[in-house]
Amino acid sequence: MKQLTVSVSPTQDVTINTHDTDPPTPGSTDLIIKVMTAALNPKDWKVPLWMTSVHPLGDDLAGIVSTVGSDVVDFAPGMRVAAFHTVGTPYPAYGEYARVPMHMTFALSDKTTWEEACTVPLAGLTAAVGLFLRLGLPEPWKAATGEEKEKTGLVVYGAAGAVGAFVVKLARLAGLTPIVCVAGKGVPFVRSLLDEEKGDAVVDYREGDEAVVSGIQAALREAGVGDGKARYAFDAISGDGSQENIARVIAPGARVTHVHPPGGYGDYLEGTETSNTLAGDIALQNPDFGFVWMRYLGRLVAEGKLQGHPFEVIPGGLDGAKEGLEMLRDGKVSAKKIVHQIGNTGEM
Ligand SMILES: NC(=O)c1ccc[n+]([C@@H]2O[C@H](COP(=O)([O-])OP(=O)(O)OC[C@H]3O[C@@H](n4cnc5c(N)ncnc54)[C@H](OP(=O)(O)O)[C@@H]3O)[C@@H](O)[C@H]2O)c1
Repeated sequence: MKQLTVSVSPTQDVTINTHDTDPPTPGSTDLIIKVMTAALNPKDWKVPLWMTSVHPLGDDLAGIVSTVGSDVVDFAPGMRVAAFHTVGTPYPAYGEYARVPMHMTFALSDKTTWEEACTVPLAGLTAAVGLFLRLGLPEPWKAATGEEKEKTGLVVYGAAGAVGAFVVKLARLAGLTPIVCVAGKGVPFVRSLLDEEKGDAVVDYREGDEAVVSGIQAALREAGVGDGKARYAFDAISGDGSQENIARVIAPGARVTHVHPPGGYGDYLEGTETSNTLAGDIALQNPDFGFVWMRYLGRLVAEGKLQGHPFEVIPGGLDGAKEGLEMLRDGKVSAKKIVHQIGNTGEM
């Protein structure tokens, strides 16, 4: 079978290598999935660049269960599933067969397309880690009670991205309001996710930092968040001035989470609680959180309560991976996922 690795040079040239290997065998709690679709994430080019090493390509996939380990429950051969492959391990999403842990997998109904399904796992789980593990906000299954959920004042920086959009969708399912977003080309998409009657709003980062800061403050005030300062912020960009702008719109004692490790964490007020949201280590570091949230994401998708991210299919199956990675690297992707139909790769 074929599987892909990726390396990225210091000048950001992307090299994809195809490896012919034996098909994987499952560990006791693993599934082997025949991959039908895979989606790219920014990490797929950034991590090989930062680490200056070769990486198995891709962690977001949907496909058909082929074999299961001896201790696997809930899944059986033939089932349609989506999964979050464990970052850095062999048999990734961009290959004929992937190996994934059962706690990072969820079942799909026949209504969910392969393409939509593969947009959910990594970005959806990242959103859940940030909102509920790092910011400590109440999960959707907790009763909506007074102060906890009303007038929360959640800033979502980068809401048109896959992570930011799942943050907005899960925050809405949790009843949090108002959600004040920052986006650019994706403003119309973000607006479609919001409930403006409840005070949700979006400001356009292309108008400059001052407009972003004053826009967020005005939206919070308009929504009745006392002094125009948010208690929570999810920075799904963590660059391009996002930290500095967030520092200007949060209340004393606010909680802020970033998707990239601290680059100084802006100039936050003393008492601000900052954290790093990292989904890639959940499979190994917090499998219980992974289990609960992957199953829950699957149920929300099956019941139509959570939609995948908009996507663009790049033709060519595995052969289209390089083109997709270069689009991500060049910042050409707005408000959509890059998806490949691996199951359609001609020679497999
Ligand atoms: N730590 C983790 O576990 C983890 C997991 C997943 C992702 N990440 C990181 O999180 C970031 C987002 O990932 P993703 O998958 O959501 O990426 P993505 O879907 O490719 O995000 C693209 C979006 O970013 C938005 N954007 C770019 N610059 C912006 C700015 N200055 N202000 C506001 N929005 C801006 C664009 O918005 P417009 O189209 O509106 O212009 C675009 O739609 C990436 O840096 C990624 O590496 C980290």
